[in-house]
Amino acid sequence: MSARKLLLLPGDGIGPEAMAEVRKLIDLMNIEQNAGFVTEEALVGGCAYDAYGVPFSDDDMARAQSADAVLFGAVGGPKWDEVAYEVRPEAGLLRLRKELDLFANLRPAICYPALAASSSLKQDVIEGLDILILRELTGGVYFGEPKQIIDLGNGQQRAIDTQLYDTYEIERIASVAFELARTRRNKVTSMEKRNVMKSGVLWNQVVTRIHKERYADVTLEHMLADAGGMQLVRWPKQFDVIVTDNLFGDMLSDVAAMLTGSLGMLPSASLGAPDARTGKRKALYEPVHGSAPDIAGKNIANPIAMIASFAMCLRYSFEMVREADLVEKAIADVLADGVRTRDILSEGFREVSTAEMGDLIVAKY
Ligand code: NAI
Ligand code: MG
Repeated sequence: MSARKLLLLPGDGIGPEAMAEVRKLIDLMNIEQNAGFVTEEALVGGCAYDAYGVPFSDDDMARAQSADAVLFGAVGGPKWDEVAYEVRPEAGLLRLRKELDLFANLRPAICYPALAASSSLKQDVIEGLDILILRELTGGVYFGEPKQIIDLGNGQQRAIDTQLYDTYEIERIASVAFELARTRRNKVTSMEKRNVMKSGVLWNQVVTRIHKERYADVTLEHMLADAGGMQLVRWPKQFDVIVTDNLFGDMLSDVAAMLTGSLGMLPSASLGAPDARTGKRKALYEPVHGSAPDIAGKNIANPIAMIASFAMCLRYSFEMVREADLVEKAIADVLADGVRTRDILSEGFREVSTAEMGDLIVAKY
């Protein structure tokens, strides 16, 4: 079997603490299953800035390009607040996203049974929830030009952002949505605002055409994004895969995520286009949370988001579906045993450290 090349980028704050727990799992899989993971580690974010004066070096970018997948911890912190904009820690992550062309951002919203009671929604609304928000990540209003504030000369200013999508951008994100749905419950809900936005009209047309041409076996539904937001909170279990643009996806994925969990529980994946020769996609996996400077270095951070991100890596980069299921089940089992890190602790449960949580999950795997 050929090596599975992973680039580990722990980053700043709690990033390295969380990554250490994933390492335990990688080591175990290599020893017990001969999984063949070959890991390299590099600096990203503030720690890279301190070492090299840039938040991600060219050498390490080359490593990321040649890896099968990148595991990313978190970057940033007050130490680097005054650093110039171009070399701030987040610029390291933005460089990775841009140069690996990671246009598809996957955010699952899964309800672990043991945590259902602590959601802000009624238990029966979210119990058993397992949906996936797919957000277009490299286009739309966050990047469209013109993007500026101009002086109108009469004491007024005008701010302009441009929502812009080309056909190919919609085609490729739609394809990812349908392919993901085929591995799940075979349903895609596409969300836009075709009633008031031209980009929504084109989005709707292209998704409909791709569906008809290549994915007619998948159920497709269209929903206006505002109504979609309402439905997400009213009855989220009606969805399987939701596909939407960068702006709506930013908001809807945060809403969906918070249906079920704490920030310390939420994984994500960002995928690029398939390589023309090998068919393999570039990919980066990271927890949704940041570097949590307020709790860094205390061994109290929740490593589950990072570990669940690794499970996504197994699933989407290495087709190790059984192993991904096992990791997710190990997380659910440990939670069901009443074990909690501080961020998800409530009365009657047993508090554990970051390292203990990692050990327990590895032991269940
Ligand atoms: P944050 O996600 O780091 O923390 C928000 C709150 O959630 C904090 O109270 C933190 O202690 C808690 N928290 C986050 N992850 C946790 C975990 N795994 N276990 C337990 N508690 C956890 O967001 P914040 O505070 O807005 O940003 C802190 C730094 O992280 C900033 O420098 C920000 O720029 C950076 N950041 C980096 C991101 C990335 O690397 N992708 C994403 C978001 C923020
Ligand atoms: Mg956001």
